[in-house]
Amino acid sequence: MGYKIGVIKGDGIGPEIVTEAVKVLDHIALKYGHQFDYTKILMGGCSIDACGVPLTEEAITAAKASDAVLMGSIGGDAKTSPWYQLPPEKRPEAGLLGIRKALNLFANLRPANLYKELKEACPLRDDIIGDGFDMMIMRELTGGLYFGARKTEEIDGKMTAVDTLIYNEDEIRRIAIRAFDTAAKRRKKVTSVDKANVLDSSRLWRKIVEEVAKDYPDITLEHMLVDNAAMQIVKNPRQFDVILTENMFGDILSDEASMVTGSIGMLASASLNDSKFGLYEPSHGSAPDIAGQDIANPIATVLSASMMLRYSFDLDKEADAIDAAVKQVLTDGYRTGDIMSEGCTKVGCSRMGDLLVERIR
Ligand code: IPM
Ligand code: MG
Repeated sequence: MGYKIGVIKGDGIGPEIVTEAVKVLDHIALKYGHQFDYTKILMGGCSIDACGVPLTEEAITAAKASDAVLMGSIGGDAKTSPWYQLPPEKRPEAGLLGIRKALNLFANLRPANLYKELKEACPLRDDIIGDGFDMMIMRELTGGLYFGARKTEEIDGKMTAVDTLIYNEDEIRRIAIRAFDTAAKRRKKVTSVDKANVLDSSRLWRKIVEEVAKDYPDITLEHMLVDNAAMQIVKNPRQFDVILTENMFGDILSDEASMVTGSIGMLASASLNDSKFGLYEPSHGSAPDIAGQDIANPIATVLSASMMLRYSFDLDKEADAIDAAVKQVLTDGYRTGDIMSEGCTKVGCSRMGDLLVERIR
């Protein structure tokens, strides 16, 4: 079958890692008889350089015309890049927030699981790791603090800044439904993370999540305050199945969860709306310090492509083949620098792509 894939290579290591993911997709197309047509879309710093803004109307139109979008990473070094001399709404990150909003990508799925081959890279003790952990962070992505009104102004002679954390019940309900649906296909537990001991938005969150839970009698729901959740992720990550949370808490906890897996270079993500459309990107950033050296880890982007096949195209068999190739390449002892350990073979970004292609059955 034919699929239209929008491709945002972005900045930093983005172009290198996306090239490897496309290499893998091309091989899948060949092997399984599909046709993938790619449309290049500019976003982030490269769009600022070419068009003066991080996200253009053309880019949004091209993304909407695609069946799904595969993305690398955006942004540069905030200390040295001229992009960060621009006002905040014209910086690379504004492009990413803008496309999420424009495409209504409210559900951000960030799996954090430990590959047993990478146990060495996990910073947690063996007795905490046990036989591994596997959690799915369901982060609300188009509401909350990142999209509420903000301003900085002088009040009574003092510079004063305000950001607004706002959620309505519909926004909470739709992401909660996603979390329960996802848990139903996994280990049937939802941990809803909030700060209901302080915030009104969290108290509403908790109320709506409890309403949604009534439709899912065989799923266990627990509530956890975000400060405690931050602690529990390092204390006992095995207790989590699906973590449901609002935008900022999810941003922070997903970085923490990815770190305990040992490498953020391994973690994929999907940002979905209420149709089959999604934007797929690695959970990590653009790593400008290692860009252009062919040493970045492309696996998170390759796994994001796998999520795209699974969630947007219903190509489960093909997605399984990619996931299996990733496991096999690790079993065979190949590692990029970020996940390197003694006795393994260190390879670069493009070589890792080739090794993955060789392992797709
Ligand atoms: C992420 C990133 C973005 C976010 C930034 C770049 C705006 O940190 O995807 O987690 O906060 O959502
Ligand atoms: Mg983040």
